[in-house]
Amino acid sequence: MSKLTAKHFSNDPVALVNAGLRAATFTNPSLHFDPTHKVVSLRSAASQPTVALVSGGGSGHEPSFAGFVGEGFLTAAVAGSVFASPSAEQVFRAVEAIGTDQPDRGVLVIIMNYTGDMLHFGMAVEKARAAGIKADLLVVGDDVGVGRSRGGRIGRRGLAGTVLVQKIAGAAAAGGASLEEVRRIAGLAGDNLATVGASLAHVHVPGRQVTADELGDAIEIGMGIHNEEGFGRVTTTLSGLVETMLKQLLDQSDKDRAYIQLSPGEEFVAMVNNLGGISVLELGAITAEVVDQLSTTYSLRPSRLLSGTYMTSLNGLGFSITLLKVADKSFLSLIDAPADAAGWSAPVQPKNWANGIDTSKPEPSQPKSGSETQSSTPSNLQLDAQVAPNKLRAALKSLIDAEPQVTKYDTVVGDGDCGLCLKTGAEAVLKYLDSPAATASQSDALRLVRDIAQVVEQNMDGTSGALYAIFVNSLAAGLQAAVAGQSPQPATPQIWAAGLKAALLSLGKYTPAQPGDRTVIDALVPFVNTLAETLDVKRAVGAATQGCESTKGMKASLGRSVYVSVEGWNSCPDPGAYGLVKLLEGFV
Ligand SMILES: *[C@@H]1O[C@H](CO)[C@@H](O)[C@H](O)[C@H]1NC(C)=O
Repeated sequence: MSKLTAKHFSNDPVALVNAGLRAATFTNPSLHFDPTHKVVSLRSAASQPTVALVSGGGSGHEPSFAGFVGEGFLTAAVAGSVFASPSAEQVFRAVEAIGTDQPDRGVLVIIMNYTGDMLHFGMAVEKARAAGIKADLLVVGDDVGVGRSRGGRIGRRGLAGTVLVQKIAGAAAAGGASLEEVRRIAGLAGDNLATVGASLAHVHVPGRQVTADELGDAIEIGMGIHNEEGFGRVTTTLSGLVETMLKQLLDQSDKDRAYIQLSPGEEFVAMVNNLGGISVLELGAITAEVVDQLSTTYSLRPSRLLSGTYMTSLNGLGFSITLLKVADKSFLSLIDAPADAAGWSAPVQPKNWANGIDTSKPEPSQPKSGSETQSSTPSNLQLDAQVAPNKLRAALKSLIDAEPQVTKYDTVVGDGDCGLCLKTGAEAVLKYLDSPAATASQSDALRLVRDIAQVVEQNMDGTSGALYAIFVNSLAAGLQAAVAGQSPQPATPQIWAAGLKAALLSLGKYTPAQPGDRTVIDALVPFVNTLAETLDVKRAVGAATQGCESTKGMKASLGRSVYVSVEGWNSCPDPGAYGLVKLLEGFV
């Protein structure tokens, strides 16, 4: 059973929370931090619009909520320790300070529906009222994971959708709305909001004892942002997971849920929120899946799509999906309104949303296989069509046969992909040799090399692919330069040697590798030099073999092998050099 990862950069939860809150004042200099009450507030609160917004809750949900303090958003945020509500005293101090700094001030406190928060924030608001402050409380419960019947007395919890309610409230307040009006519009947003989360694992709270995570391979749907239990566990794919989650958000026949109803064409805001530990790449894949399924299953297209980190559960390996129905036309402009808060990311300008997102699914075109290569322009450099293509075929087959050995070597000293990369390239060139384009080129050396360069470029990736593509392209240029005059002439060993030398020189412009660096260069350089000196292919291949042998035990100073420290060095040649030797051996 997997254990929660307990490795952190900061292991003292008290220091961690304080440092995190201080950091909010560095990333947004318009903020002030009061360490006594753990309040982050706008320095200019007194000169802000009449209605001020206060929020807060346990720490561990950053950027919620200190990250949303800023002009056009929250006026202050009160933080508890990790996953624990701040005290009523802390909240009261924040509400009192802001509630009395303007004569007509109104303070709307917007919190999530958690027992501790309800008690402490509720008490603080009552105290503030008793002290003559115009204060009101709005509680957000957007969770649909735990349905009505099971929710029972616990009710709906607040999740990432809360941020949208606060954004709408903040923009309304910035526009000069009254406390009643801000509360009305924010409440309407809360009533048209639904969120569901899913997590791969529980999170470890810094400083706490490490326990086993009994979740194993399962995914918990509806896990709360404090590790609390949700709807249940499933073992499924991303697509199956998103299907279940969207059903919980939208299925009208689910009487236990059906909190919001969206019909095709209706406007809504979608938010895909990272719970803290999902890679940005993976969040992108999740977002694409959500948009695709909304479109295909429900004929729904979000008017705004927010994908990023808004409310976390520490480094939670999970995400949540929020849907906000545009129940009032102003919702979109309030979401679009600028907000000077470091945690808010809605970087796309409203005008660019006007045409809506394109939910059609483009399919990538197939890469050109070797057999579709277009023959390049003819030259006067002749080749023996009876011999050359067959020699090349034999060489490519020799390389393909060597793939398992190259892969074996590369698994020891590299990342294991070299063999397949070479094999893919060789197979594509073989395919090309059987195509009509090759028939046109097989008696024209320059044309053949140019065609092969195209095939290599289109079919080989990775470092080897790039090196071979540069080399073959440069070989074409080198051959061209070595041809004197216009009349047809055979591609002599001298011309090939001159072309290869030029290609080697060219390759040197893009890779710093020298013989001795344990790369393909250790075989390539002796081959080209010996061929140039002796014009004898057999001897040149012999020199390449020797060069390759010399890489055994050589310490890598370039390429991926640098990062691998293994015992296999001594018996293992450089896989790239080995592959080249196998290719060259096929020629003789
Ligand atoms: C908050 O939870 C309580 C139960 O503790 C529930 O009665 C109430 O409806 C919930 N509020 C919201 C806004 O979801």
